[in-house]
Amino acid sequence: MIETITELDALRARVREWKRQGLRVGFVPTMGNLHAGHYSLVMLARQYADRVVSSVFVNPTQFGPNEDFTRYPRTPDADTAGLEGAGCDVLWLPTVESMYPFGVELASKVRVPGVSQVLEGEHRPGHFDGVCTVVSRLFHQVQPDVAAFGKKDYQQLAVIRQLVADLQFPIEIVGGGIVREADGLAMSSRNQYLGPDERPRAPTIHRVLLAMRDAALAGTPRAQVEAQGSRQLQDAGFDVDYAVVRRPDLSEPADGEPGPRVALVAARLGRTRLIDNLEF
Ligand code: PAJ
Repeated sequence: MIETITELDALRARVREWKRQGLRVGFVPTMGNLHAGHYSLVMLARQYADRVVSSVFVNPTQFGPNEDFTRYPRTPDADTAGLEGAGCDVLWLPTVESMYPFGVELASKVRVPGVSQVLEGEHRPGHFDGVCTVVSRLFHQVQPDVAAFGKKDYQQLAVIRQLVADLQFPIEIVGGGIVREADGLAMSSRNQYLGPDERPRAPTIHRVLLAMRDAALAGTPRAQVEAQGSRQLQDAGFDVDYAVVRRPDLSEPADGEPGPRVALVAARLGRTRLIDNLEF
């Protein structure tokens, strides 16, 4: 049976008891409205740990003023049942008051320069400050040995790795592969915002990423790969924030330079902003 904990003292006592028994603690932070992508992270964390804590907290500090904080989908009963099915031991449900005891305005902030300033950082100013601020707090609350993050949010994973290295959290970070719908659309809580005319067009992002990968591997110059990717998305009716090829640390590779790459896209279909990526 999964145990739902809403008080920090109770969470600390539970984790302390596990550690006293010599058990390794895994952690999967989420914002709820969980789907198979989230559950895959719980199962991944299980491979690295004896006990798994998941948090559900819709973090106000990582949403921009015109973003979807208030209408972000909240499905607590389904999340609890799904987490139990995935093998999660404890569901940690902080309140806004316990996460930010001095209020959001007076909260100490954690900011990771560099990797958080490109791509999403340019299009969602302050977003990664909010993510790093809440993830640091969650890490202090849960004190896990290992934490799992999805590659769906590729840049977030890179930012978290930098955060953990720089602030020397004694936590191993593991990245989980992107879980997709049958038609290639990356699973996301935001997919449900898509209208019936938009949903069939959404998998275009995945097809464009595959085409960008193929072109890059065929030696097409990066600028051309990126321009073609953007154009294909625009032709399918997307407003494109970016369609780029980067090194794994999100810096810009030179043409002809060998090594691992990732193609990343952020694009809006109507009012819904979608992100996806493909490593190659
Ligand atoms: P959320 O969007 O709920 O995502 C929680 C975790 O699930 C993240 O690590 C995300 O990358 C992963 N995830 C989402 N969709 C996925 C998919 N289709 N395949 C694999 N993994 C997927 O990311 C956040 O919440 C927040 O920023 C958080 C880290 C919890 C801080 O508030």
